[in-house]
Amino acid sequence: MNEPNGDLARIHLIDNRNGRPNSRNGRLIVMSNRAPIRIIREGREERIEPTVGGVGSTFLRLLERNGGLWIAWSGGQKTPPPKLMPPVEPRFKMIFAPLGEQDISEYYHGMCNRGLWPLMHFMTPKCHFSTHQWNRYLRVNQIFARIVCDEAQPGDTLWVQDFHLALVPRAVRQQRNDLPIGIFWHVPFPPEQLMRILPWREEFLQGMLGADVIGFHTQSYATHFLNCCQRILSLEVSHERGEVMVDNRRVRAGAFPLGIPADFFASLAASPRVASRAQRIRRSLGTQLMVLGVDRLDYTKGILERLLGFERFLEQNPSWHRRVTLVLIAVPSRTKVSDYAELKRELDELVGHVVGRFSSEGWVPLRYLYTQFGAEELVAYYRAADIALLTPLRDGMNLVAKEFVASRVSDDGVLILSEFAGAAEELTEALLVNPYDADQIAERLRQAVEMSRAEQSSRMSAMRGKVQANNLERWSESFLAELSPDRGFGQGTSEAVPV
Ligand code: UDP
Ligand code: G6P
Repeated sequence: MNEPNGDLARIHLIDNRNGRPNSRNGRLIVMSNRAPIRIIREGREERIEPTVGGVGSTFLRLLERNGGLWIAWSGGQKTPPPKLMPPVEPRFKMIFAPLGEQDISEYYHGMCNRGLWPLMHFMTPKCHFSTHQWNRYLRVNQIFARIVCDEAQPGDTLWVQDFHLALVPRAVRQQRNDLPIGIFWHVPFPPEQLMRILPWREEFLQGMLGADVIGFHTQSYATHFLNCCQRILSLEVSHERGEVMVDNRRVRAGAFPLGIPADFFASLAASPRVASRAQRIRRSLGTQLMVLGVDRLDYTKGILERLLGFERFLEQNPSWHRRVTLVLIAVPSRTKVSDYAELKRELDELVGHVVGRFSSEGWVPLRYLYTQFGAEELVAYYRAADIALLTPLRDGMNLVAKEFVASRVSDDGVLILSEFAGAAEELTEALLVNPYDADQIAERLRQAVEMSRAEQSSRMSAMRGKVQANNLERWSESFLAELSPDRGFGQGTSEAVPV
């Protein structure tokens, strides 16, 4: 992925200098499992590649703009020394948490990806839990917490990201109650009845409650969390104010729908290079319309269901044969986890089936790209498409939906979006769909291909207005404002306020 004002390839590494203070008289310390970049060594040369996923793209853009400190896993067993990026001000400092082979296998592949990921996405039959893996999760969370405690200076603010690091807020608070601590949950949060299947549910929730502010993409995820605090931990909760009382402290838990750098996508989409690349993509397809799907290859994304819906559309609408192509961009993800390898096999098979069933001379209904693109190429696809078909079975937000909207600078095109993506709560002018219903996907596709230009424009401009208004900057400001010392957080003395 590219940085806002240039190509990520331009980011070089400089050793061992400090992160620049942010505007809060201290640094913003961001912590995530996944780093925004991976370092590839080829001989004596070092090259940086971006990683894919909402957390990486979001905070890379924020820290490039504001500076600060980012603590994350390197993505492998090697731990590079601290790095300073990018080469120009403002810079941020990266520290890589040292994880060994067992940590990666039991914490990341095991507890995170085979336990918590499906649980957070309400997919309990896919959950595998083991005490070994939980203990490793605890250990890794402690490693991360120790790095912050060593690095943080008075006045700094800690902002933890996602379900990999749920225990960090409490672990840090036990040693450094001078730091304001926030955690943002980039995935959904399950209802209490599902959360109960986690054998360590109390410890997990208590870990999160070490934070001062806990952010979710939607109000319903925040409500699920508050219900868990009330019913599993028997804590005092105010649903009205979105607050939990714990250990005589007030913890705020609410909805902060993640925004994207809308101007960055709009200006990239409007650039002549992207326009001509988009034209070339269209020419190479040779059909009147292009439907686009973009995701990491993940079973939560409903990629098989999307394909079944497209197959139903082709069955029911022979007049659209030879006139439409579905382009599927599937980014390789978590390939060492068996459920992901299995999904890849199933998808390959289904793609072959649909291509074999409908292709005719000069027309292949589907183009399947198993690869990762940088921002410029991705935006060229956003711009080339007429319809985005995004069908997650459950998704925290789905940034791709917002990026597609932000890139439609001519206010044309149609977004078909799963009603189970967090983004559906904001992008209500999309054609919402139940991804489990192949007939409904086919029907939405029919509506989309027949939609008048005027209707496209009124829906798209309304959505673009929303994506522009709640952009990335506004989102981070609103979260950090909640975490501000003015609200009594991070003083080491936060007084109990009755809930
Ligand atoms: N993305 C990318 N290259 C690709 C496909 C996707 O950089 O080839 C980025 C995309 O721009 C978006 C992120 O990956 O910012 C995916 O975020 P999303 O919330 O849609 O899904 P996640 O992967 O976080 O579950
Ligand atoms: C989702 C998660 C992120 C994660 C990303 C990519 O967006 O919310 O925390 O980084 O997927 O997954 P990976 O396992 O490769 O980090």
